[in-house]
Amino acid sequence: MFNASRTHAARAAWWLAIPISASLGAGALAQQPSASGSSPQVHQAEVAGAAGISAQMKTGESTYQTVCLACHQADGKGLPGAFPPLAGSDYLLGDKDRAVGVVVRGLEGEIVVNGVKFNSVMPAMTQLSDQEIADALTYAMNSWGNKGGAVTVAQVAAVRAKAAAEPKTASSPTQHPTTTAELKYQGAPSPAGAEGVKILVTPGAPNMTEPEFKHAQEIYFQRCAGCHGVLRKGATGKPLTPDITQKKGTEYLKVFINQGSPAGMPSWGKSGELSQEEVDIMARFVQHEPPQPPEFGMPEIKASWNVIVPVSERPTRQQSKYNLDNIFAVTLRDAGEVALIDGDTKEIINVIRTGYAVHISRLSHSGRYVYTIGRDGRIDLIDLYFEQPTKVAEIKVGLEARSVETSKYKGYEDKYAIAGAYWPPQYTIMDGLTSSRSRSSRLAA
Ligand code: HEC
Ligand code: HEC
Repeated sequence: MFNASRTHAARAAWWLAIPISASLGAGALAQQPSASGSSPQVHQAEVAGAAGISAQMKTGESTYQTVCLACHQADGKGLPGAFPPLAGSDYLLGDKDRAVGVVVRGLEGEIVVNGVKFNSVMPAMTQLSDQEIADALTYAMNSWGNKGGAVTVAQVAAVRAKAAAEPKTASSPTQHPTTTAELKYQGAPSPAGAEGVKILVTPGAPNMTEPEFKHAQEIYFQRCAGCHGVLRKGATGKPLTPDITQKKGTEYLKVFINQGSPAGMPSWGKSGELSQEEVDIMARFVQHEPPQPPEFGMPEIKASWNVIVPVSERPTRQQSKYNLDNIFAVTLRDAGEVALIDGDTKEIINVIRTGYAVHISRLSHSGRYVYTIGRDGRIDLIDLYFEQPTKVAEIKVGLEARSVETSKYKGYEDKYAIAGAYWPPQYTIMDGLTSSRSRSSRLAA
């Protein structure tokens, strides 16, 4: 094998890959629920005893962190344009029953909070008990400077009873099923569906038919595993194991998968990448035990290989006007793209579709080619000689991967590329100019 490390240092490190996230991402990623954000302000007139409310604040804080925080944020300020604030919210503090109703029924359509319009969807929190809702709301009503007093279990029960008596509108996607009993019923094991289709049952997870599960599994390993890990233990994305996802509930998961988040979760439904039906099966799928990751061997690697511009049709000398010693490849993480930027002028040369959350952009020995590898194991080969530098070949070497390197040893310049995958545990040696897989070896566990 060629010795990459020896020759690597010979070239000046003029070329950089900087992973960046959406502008709002950095703050949200770093966010941890902080104890300092929760200094409770108790409105004594409203409560029977201070001991009662502080107990509610404590359990409410943990429910808030598990269920509400992802959208309304640790500081209760929400996210502009997406999630309204609870801190200082006139909507929350103005009417207790209405606030309880939002959590019990969900909320959809235009609302105005502190003079700002929101028009989105909050799923009904059907997975929470009356006590949990009372506590979470009490926490929200008495944190971040709010002084709203306590919400009692009786208040929640009354609103829930009223909501249950209301006719359900078909147009409201968040209101079915509304009761815990109904959910329990739906979760009951059943060996076969109406048409004899096998139903898959995981305790606590909504049932899925076998074809639904298979379809979800395919989507997961193609589009989600790179960030959430093949076993869903989390990587760039959060862990999605049943102990976590079942607590969040199908409706919450659907909203999240639909909308994505500024912290780096792509929006799958809104962008049209997944249909509403697919969003629904993904929300159910992640509540089931993670299945064994599928094989991704030679046939799959070969099937993914695509030479967009054959070597014979590529320029023989540089046609672009750029100084190849000063080009940046910048990972546009959540978009699944890299931007090539001219280091001299700081102008964008081209934005190129790649794998997800490109981990490494690697340069060939000659400096002509850029190899990118996404966390989803997809490698793209970019030729900088074209007048408009562009992608000339692509291949997928596994389901979850991190790095690609090119041959730089004397006599092997630009000849080979090698990529290692987390799953399956294998490395692939490719033809350097076409990414054609020439050899693939499985590592012993
Ligand atoms: C999946 C995201 C999401 C989660 C989780 C979520 N909300 Fe919301 N919430 C929203 C959205 C979006 C709206 C605005 C809906 C609209 O535009 O009609 C909203 C509105 C509200 C409102 C009314 C508006 C305001 O700002 O005062 C309250 C109160 C509220 N949520 C409380 C909660 C509580 C308490 C929880 C946890 C038990 C929670 N939410 C969980 C997304 C969410
Ligand atoms: C580019 C990386 C990336 C990809 C690809 C991705 N996710 Fe995510 N996902 C994230 C990140 C980052 C978060 C955490 C976001 C946050 O906390 O706001 C997340 C959060 C989530 C959550 C919410 C988890 C929670 O505990 O609140 C769900 C559900 C989810 N992703 C499902 C999916 C599904 C299903 C797919 C595939 C269709 C997918 N993700 C693909 C990065 C990704």
